[in-house]
Amino acid sequence: MTFAGPGELSSDWQPGCPADRGRKWYNCTVTANTVVGVPRETAEGERRVALVPKVVERLRARNLAVVVEPGAGAAALIPDDAYVHSGATLGDPWQADVVVKVAPPTDAEIAKLRSGAVFLGFLAPLTDPGKADALRRGGVHGFAMESIPRISRAQSMDALSSQANVAGYRAALLAAEHLTRFFPMLTTAAGTVPPAKVLVLGVGVAGLQALATARRLGAHTTGYDVRPEVADQVRSVGAQWLDLGIEAAGSGGYARSLTDAERDEQQRRLARAITGFDAVITTAQVPGRTAPTLVTADAVKGMRAGSVVVDLAGESGGNCELTRAGEVVVEHAVTIASPLNLPSTMPEHASELYARNVQALLELLVDKEGAVSLDFTDEVVAGACVTGQEG
Ligand code: NAI
Repeated sequence: MTFAGPGELSSDWQPGCPADRGRKWYNCTVTANTVVGVPRETAEGERRVALVPKVVERLRARNLAVVVEPGAGAAALIPDDAYVHSGATLGDPWQADVVVKVAPPTDAEIAKLRSGAVFLGFLAPLTDPGKADALRRGGVHGFAMESIPRISRAQSMDALSSQANVAGYRAALLAAEHLTRFFPMLTTAAGTVPPAKVLVLGVGVAGLQALATARRLGAHTTGYDVRPEVADQVRSVGAQWLDLGIEAAGSGGYARSLTDAERDEQQRRLARAITGFDAVITTAQVPGRTAPTLVTADAVKGMRAGSVVVDLAGESGGNCELTRAGEVVVEHAVTIASPLNLPSTMPEHASELYARNVQALLELLVDKEGAVSLDFTDEVVAGACVTGQEG
């Protein structure tokens, strides 16, 4: 089985081949229309990969051929052999009809894409529109995972959510690790230790997962958000709702930016509320904007020595005034951690979930015969495409 270039791959597998998922497949014959390329991620610290072998199998069953760059799965502990066993070939992924990635492509990577190809991955369209422009200039249809409409039908494609779940889980573990106190209540012969109090600021997908995880670890949990509809979701994971009397629901289920007066008032009220908590996990974001400052330096000063702030918004400026993106600092005897790209710290499951998102989107972009067919009357296809709809 050799890769001869886009649209020319003669695969020897077809649906209905023996259940044996090994190399015996290669005795069957079918001509796949579309080749999907999976490059090795090159961004610093990125350990995820866009497709995993289980999903490769599913794509092969849809008459898609898959070319994986050697070593693409290595950082996620997926050996090349696993891809070959699932029906992929190893080779140059950049000449494929559809290239799927996790991190946004570099300029050099965009230059390797062929005109007419489809690119699919995170593209940061709101903060880095240059990527979409470069893809457009190269004649590439760019689909941004961030731009997939957050409607029920597209939930299986929602990579923001799948990766935010990983980040929220890890954030709670990090808070527990940095805290010099127990999370759960402990009753021992040497005395009773009360449970840690954990406050999550910004309860979207990551925040909700952080609350649920902190509670599973035995902490007493509280959530706060400017979207009032979140209160019920907070309570549904066994947490208390912190009501500061400031609401800022925006459009599309997101928060809007606060006015200066609202922000000042929020910071004042939060500074008072925060003093009672052992760990504060912040996840507040407004799409395309610098993250709002929720925890001021004064608020940190008011926390008990040994307390912890885990700031998930470091990449977009941070929710804590004392945050240094990507670092762990100690200020006023409080540890402030701002981890970057937390999903990459769990590359196996993060890749698995991401690959399922990619599969679901791909299934919308190719027809039953496995040919690319972009239907821009579909709101998910039109919404996710950030390079225009001509051609
Ligand atoms: P996000 O990552 O954009 O923001 C995190 C949280 O920060 C949000 O809950 C936001 O309200 C909050 N926030 C922003 N500014 C704040 C401030 N000044 N103070 C306090 N909190 C602040 O949010 P995420 O996780 O991407 O979710 C956004 C929305 O999308 C939510 O409504 C969520 O329910 C919805 N969603 C819908 C899905 C679907 O229907 N398919 C799937 C996933 C999420």
